[in-house]
Amino acid sequence: MNSVSSLITAPNLSQSNRQMKIYIRLQIIFILSIFCLQLLLDNSNDLNLQKQFIPFNRTLGFNHIYIIHLKNRIDRRERLEEISSYLGLDFDYFPAISKNDKQILSRYGSADMNLQQKACYLSHYFLYKQIIDKGYNSVLILEDDADFELNITAVIADIYRDLPASWDMLYLGHCFEGIGELVGKSSPVHRLHKSMFPMCTHAYAVSYSGVRKLIDLIDPVIPRGTVDYSISVVIEEKNVSSYSIHPQLIVQWKDHSDISGSLDLFFNLLNSTSRFLGY
Ligand SMILES: *[C@@H]1O[C@H](CO)[C@@H](O)[C@H](O)[C@H]1NC(C)=O
Ligand SMILES: *[C@@H]1O[C@H](CO)[C@@H](O)[C@H](O)[C@H]1NC(C)=O
Ligand SMILES: *[C@@H]1O[C@H](CO)[C@@H](O)[C@H](O)[C@H]1NC(C)=O
Ligand SMILES: *[C@@H]1O[C@H](CO)[C@@H](O)[C@H](O)[C@H]1NC(C)=O
Repeated sequence: MNSVSSLITAPNLSQSNRQMKIYIRLQIIFILSIFCLQLLLDNSNDLNLQKQFIPFNRTLGFNHIYIIHLKNRIDRRERLEEISSYLGLDFDYFPAISKNDKQILSRYGSADMNLQQKACYLSHYFLYKQIIDKGYNSVLILEDDADFELNITAVIADIYRDLPASWDMLYLGHCFEGIGELVGKSSPVHRLHKSMFPMCTHAYAVSYSGVRKLIDLIDPVIPRGTVDYSISVVIEEKNVSSYSIHPQLIVQWKDHSDISGSLDLFFNLLNSTSRFLGY
C-alpha cells in the first residue's frame, strides 16, 4: 500500500494528515530545488573544468593530432612513438603523398615547385579534406620530423587563455617568422603573437573555420608557390586569422650533425624532448 498516495487522496483529512500533506509537498519542493541547484552547479563546473583541463588531455586540447608521415620513414615513426608515450599524447599518422606518386602529382599545378614540394603541398591539402570529412573543430597538424618542447602541455594550457575564439590558425612552430603584436602573456616564457609571415609547415593548428578557408584559398590547382609560402600569403592578406607562439614549441628535428652555426639558437628548443630521450 502506497502511503503517500493514500494520504493525498484521502477524502477527510484530519489535522495531522493535512500537516503531513504540507510536509510532503515542502519536501518535494526542497528536493526539486536541490536537484535544480545541483544541475546549475554541475553545468558551471563542467564549463570551468573544460576551460581548465582541455589542454592537459592526450591531444593537447585539440580534437585530434595528425602527423603527416611517409610510411617508409620507420626511424621517424619510432622516435615519434617514444615521444608520444613520454609526453602522453595520441598521434594519428596520415599517409603523406610521396614525390614518386607521379600520377597524383601530375594532376595539379606546379608554380615552380619540385616534386618533393608538390608532394608536401598535396599532403597538407588532402589532410584538410579529411579534417572537414571528420568534422573536427580543431586539429594540430605536424610533420614527422617534429621535436617538442618538454613542457609543451603546460605551455599550451597557458596559451589557450590568450587565444581569441575567432582563431583560424595557430603556429606552434615556424621558420623565419617575425615577432608580431603580442596577444596576452599567460605563460612565463612562451608568448602568443599575431602571425607575420610564418614559413614551414611542421607544426600548426587549424580550427574548422581555418581549414575551410585554406581549402578555398590555397587550391593546389592554382598554387602561388610552396604550401608554406601560399599559406603565409593569405595570412599576410589578412584573409586568415593566424597566431604564432614565440619561442617555438615544436621544431624540425635535426641530428646533431645537421645543425649549423648561428641558426642553431633560432631553430632550437629550450628543452628538447628528443634530446631528453637520448636522441
Ligand atoms: C581533448 O579535448 C578536446 C576538446 O575537448 C577533445 O575534442 C578531444 O577529443 C580530447 N582528446 C582526447 C584524447 O580525449
Ligand atoms: C617551460 O619550460 C621552459 C624551459 O625549461 C621554461 O623556461 C618555461 O617557464 C616553462 N613554461 C611553463 C609554462 O612551465
Ligand atoms: C584576400 O585579401 C585581399 C586583400 O587583403 C583581397 O583583395 C582578396 O579579395 C581576398 N581574397 C579572398 C578570397 O577573400
Ligand atoms: C629539461 O627538463 C628536464 C625534466 O624537467 C630536466 O631534468 C632537465 O634538467 C632540463 N634540461 C634543461 C637543459 O633545462
